[in-house]
Amino acid sequence: MNRPAISAEGLEASAEGLEAIETASVDELRAVQLERLRWTVRHAYENVPHYRTALDAAGTHPDDIHALSDLPKLPFTTKDDLRSNYPYGMFAVPAERVARVHASSGTTGRPTIVGYTRDDLETWAGVVARSIRAAGGRPGDRLHNAYGYGLFTGGLGLHAGAERLGCAVIPVSGGMTGRQVLLIRDLRPDIITVTPSYMLALIDEMERQGVDPRSTSLRVGIFGAEPWTEEMRREVEGRLGIDAVDIYGLSEIVGPGVAQECAETKDGLHLWEDHFYPEIVDPVTGETLPDGREGELVLTTLTRQAMPVLRYRTRDLTRLLPGTARPMRRIARISGRTDDMIILRGVNLFPTQIEELLLGTDELAPHFQCVLTRRGALDGLTVRVERRGAVAAGPVATAAGERVRALIKNTIGVSVEVEVVEPGGIERSAGKMRRVIDERPAR
Ligand code: DLL
Repeated sequence: MNRPAISAEGLEASAEGLEAIETASVDELRAVQLERLRWTVRHAYENVPHYRTALDAAGTHPDDIHALSDLPKLPFTTKDDLRSNYPYGMFAVPAERVARVHASSGTTGRPTIVGYTRDDLETWAGVVARSIRAAGGRPGDRLHNAYGYGLFTGGLGLHAGAERLGCAVIPVSGGMTGRQVLLIRDLRPDIITVTPSYMLALIDEMERQGVDPRSTSLRVGIFGAEPWTEEMRREVEGRLGIDAVDIYGLSEIVGPGVAQECAETKDGLHLWEDHFYPEIVDPVTGETLPDGREGELVLTTLTRQAMPVLRYRTRDLTRLLPGTARPMRRIARISGRTDDMIILRGVNLFPTQIEELLLGTDELAPHFQCVLTRRGALDGLTVRVERRGAVAAGPVATAAGERVRALIKNTIGVSVEVEVVEPGGIERSAGKMRRVIDERPAR
């Protein structure tokens, strides 16, 4: 059960407070990864019947893993695999060693259940602490955590990591928007952790209450759990006067803290490769793609005890980039999920592309939804977007909608309708925003 002895976390932190592994050379990192990968494959094979069957079917034995480049010999793991082993079939440790259970945020059907041993919870807190630090957080900071607490990994994940770093956590969770603003005003946090879409709702609420968003004590925002864009970063940084950075993660792998953008570079997210091994594959063929090419992110856990995961198909689209602020590789901002891709009359588009265009239009707010409709045999897309509070209903707002319609036609190459609604007309979510609404009748 013991993991490989190399425990870079145990080594002394550097003067700047970084863990030794964060500044290790790429060669040192690869050696740690290989040892951990071999441990993980054996652990999964010996303790999870699903993996034994899948590896046997692929003709791969744990002894066949000699190098990181042997990874493609392993079968992929999909969300369906997790679902069909519901609830505990993917666990690799006896029930008494499981210290916590979370579940994915799936809206329909069975949730996917994930488990953690005490060591796994320690590791998770460690990568989240590292993430908050990379985002600009420091021991002694106060952190307002507005990610939802519960089965969702956002709330408890950020909470444990912030405590590990030495921050004082204000565990607000999502919702009760008016009260969130009161707490930010009165408790004077330095950092806020929340989905970017709910951050916008909080900024609107500050303005509604007559609080100047730029006057708050907030210095850093750590935003994730849903796709967002550079344009949204500019909007939030401009209106709130903070540094806004991206945090990535998914419950199947651990929760938040798989990858984090560094405040000093804001150039994509460093993936904490000592615990999670990344690959990019072609989403259709599954073929491994070289670094730099866009495709689906596939992740293998390297240290997870309760639920090792081999080559998990995340459905998230990104690219692997070389390290900058840290030697570990980065992922580019997630451009979308394969299952959020809208295919409209043969053209592929993602809600993030719409977000970029809307944020370039001063009269419109970045509160929007993409509604799929069907008239006769023809699929259509209506972009429903709010006008900004300062813009009156009428010709100015309508003309802005018309401009966005033309921009979408010219840049993405597809005709859509744009419906401009009043401020507050798009339902707010206290967590992940649902960007795509499918109103098409079933065929
Ligand atoms: O959303 C974990 C998390 C909590 C991440 C808080 C960051 C902050 P799930 O509910 O399992 O876990 O959803 C995971 O959310 O596969 C992505 O599609 C999406 N996602 C997460 N972070 C980002 C991000 C949490 N920074 C799914 N950018 C992932 C884009 C993201 N999408």
